[in-house]
Amino acid sequence: MTVVLGIETSCDETGVGLVEDGVLLGDALASSMAEHARFGGVVPEIAARAHLQAMTPTVHAALAKANKTLDDVGAVAVTAGPGLATALHVGVAAAKAYALALDVPLYGVHHLAGHAAADTLEHGPLPGRSIVLIVSGGHTSLLKVHDLVRTPIEHLSDTLDDAAGEAFDKVARLVGLPYPGGPSIDRAARAGDPDAIRFPRPLTGRNDPPLGFSFSGLKTAVARYVEAHPDADANDVAAGFQEAVADVLTAKALRACRDNDIDTLVIVGGVAANSRIRGLAQERCTAAGIELRVPPMRLCTDNGAMIAAIGDLLVRDGAKPSPPDFAAIPTVELRGAQL
Ligand code: KG4
Ligand code: ZN
Repeated sequence: MTVVLGIETSCDETGVGLVEDGVLLGDALASSMAEHARFGGVVPEIAARAHLQAMTPTVHAALAKANKTLDDVGAVAVTAGPGLATALHVGVAAAKAYALALDVPLYGVHHLAGHAAADTLEHGPLPGRSIVLIVSGGHTSLLKVHDLVRTPIEHLSDTLDDAAGEAFDKVARLVGLPYPGGPSIDRAARAGDPDAIRFPRPLTGRNDPPLGFSFSGLKTAVARYVEAHPDADANDVAAGFQEAVADVLTAKALRACRDNDIDTLVIVGGVAANSRIRGLAQERCTAAGIELRVPPMRLCTDNGAMIAAIGDLLVRDGAKPSPPDFAAIPTVELRGAQL
């Protein structure tokens, strides 16, 4: 059995995890989130410098938690894309250095495949067929997945404009809630009434693509509402917006399951940490007889364990390591686990 060291630096989290044979041995996370808050979004140069400073201590923290040393590491996996170029480069360079120094194979992996693999750490291998809804800060996609590392991943739909997480972040800013917007809205919504304001459910008309996603119009609708009602309760706005997103995401994910005759739905990515999305998805899946799998909250947002998890799946599948000169790719569609 091989201990896989996973490294994630695609955005503002420096994540390191150790996984062996599907089991998370330990992980550690450093975040530069606080340094970006006053800019209202991630500043790539600040993120890159923070990754550089956090890398070695975070690797050692993960090893300590796993009760392992570098000598126990048998393979290294790293997020090669998509993500912020400057941030990705730090992780890829570090991973290459560790792999070279330890003389072990190196795997450059797709960040979103990592998000999906995170769920296997909690719920075991994915079934033969599943629908995976990826909802993160940069992506919103419905995928048909057979085997995460063996078969090409089929995209049933990708957002036409903003990603769900991006919408959370922008709407939070509109109503004066702090960055990152997702957790702020989630918190504010708990004190609000989800039925006080009904925001539009985008692309749910009779002639719209049944699995299509679009969040930019919803964000504009919130902006208009706030403009017209400057005294509106921010908690009600947050709750109404969150309800619209949860409704659309879960309705379309269930539709994808039905259309494809698949009875497992997996929801992953940072937005899968949202309490209302988790709750409504569970309600609707139970009613439809569909098994819902969502990773525990701390494995939904970016982390190193998920990258170690997809690396471990590749290692156990006998996948060929990445060439030593592979580079980070900031924009790349998810087709397979490896880049
Ligand atoms: O997957 P992730 O950590 O990074 C990317 O790969 O993009 O996702 C980050 C996104 C951010 O937009 C953040 O606001 C959102 O996930 N997010 C949430 C929650 N926690 C994080 N959105 C809604 N509710 C949450 N509780
Ligand atoms: Zn992510």
